[in-house]
Amino acid sequence: MPELNERDTKEIVREKYAEAARQASSGSACCGSVTSCGCADPITSNLYDQSNAAELPEEALRASLGCGNPTALAKLNPGETVLDLGSGSGIDVLLAARRVGPTGRACGLDMADEMLALANENKRKSGIENVEFLRGEIENIPLPHNSVDVVISNCVINLSTDKDRVLREAFRVLKPGGRFAVSDVLTRGEILPEIRRNVLLWVGCVAGALEESEYRSKLAAAGFERIDIEARRIYKIEDARQVLSGKGIDVDGIARSVEGKFMSAFVRASKPLTAWRAAQTDPARILRE
Ligand SMILES: C[S@@+](CC[C@H](N)C(=O)[O-])C[C@H]1O[C@@H](n2cnc3c(N)ncnc32)[C@H](O)[C@@H]1O
Repeated sequence: MPELNERDTKEIVREKYAEAARQASSGSACCGSVTSCGCADPITSNLYDQSNAAELPEEALRASLGCGNPTALAKLNPGETVLDLGSGSGIDVLLAARRVGPTGRACGLDMADEMLALANENKRKSGIENVEFLRGEIENIPLPHNSVDVVISNCVINLSTDKDRVLREAFRVLKPGGRFAVSDVLTRGEILPEIRRNVLLWVGCVAGALEESEYRSKLAAAGFERIDIEARRIYKIEDARQVLSGKGIDVDGIARSVEGKFMSAFVRASKPLTAWRAAQTDPARILRE
């Protein structure tokens, strides 16, 4: 199969989630044609508890396509501004908006118009007002430098073909001292490329998930400090058995080399406060960074 270029991959991702939004809007979410992400599967199921469910329109919960619950793990304070990269149906944006309260603000960013329409409909149904959904790409965030207290995201960065750029953009829009608090799919240790590709396709990561240490290096290269990666859900080979055997893969043969190596994790990091001091001594620097 020929290698997909960046534009092709992005278009496949966009169309896949546009279709997921159409299914959710028509009430037929979710299992079936949208791959594993979006089904009641081991990746996306049971991420939100009863108290979250009580706060949200049922449609938003049904259309959840994440692999974690970043607002449950992140510290969010009243009055803060939160940005959700790849906000989908808006579930984490609405939860964040409640947490930061009326003096705060929650923003969702997504490239699929169909998802933005669904998110705005969920905003309307929720009655939550301190929320805004923006159209755009996470590789080119349409917000000014140093404007956000917390960047959250739920199972989206693994979809990007330019993760360095996404992390640099997250760093740029965060205020000095701002927090990065993201749920994502990661891999751990060495995995044969063929197996890695097939399992990640099962997980729904067209562009591929980062290996844990690679994620750390990329965050550090973008300028982040206090980096912490916490495995939250480790995927089992049994969960992928049907899909992998359908591709002619000897699932029992590869089980040992897959076990414990694919996971959803919570990734935390901070933008150093020194970025602020640097700006005070050299104001042009923070705009360049
Ligand atoms: C796996 S879904 C997760 C949605 C949401 N975070 C959730 O937890 O339900 C991925 C979402 O990210 C969006 N997305 C993927 N790649 C993107 C990109 N490069 N820029 C902006 N949005 C993107 C998709 O349109 C989709 O809505």
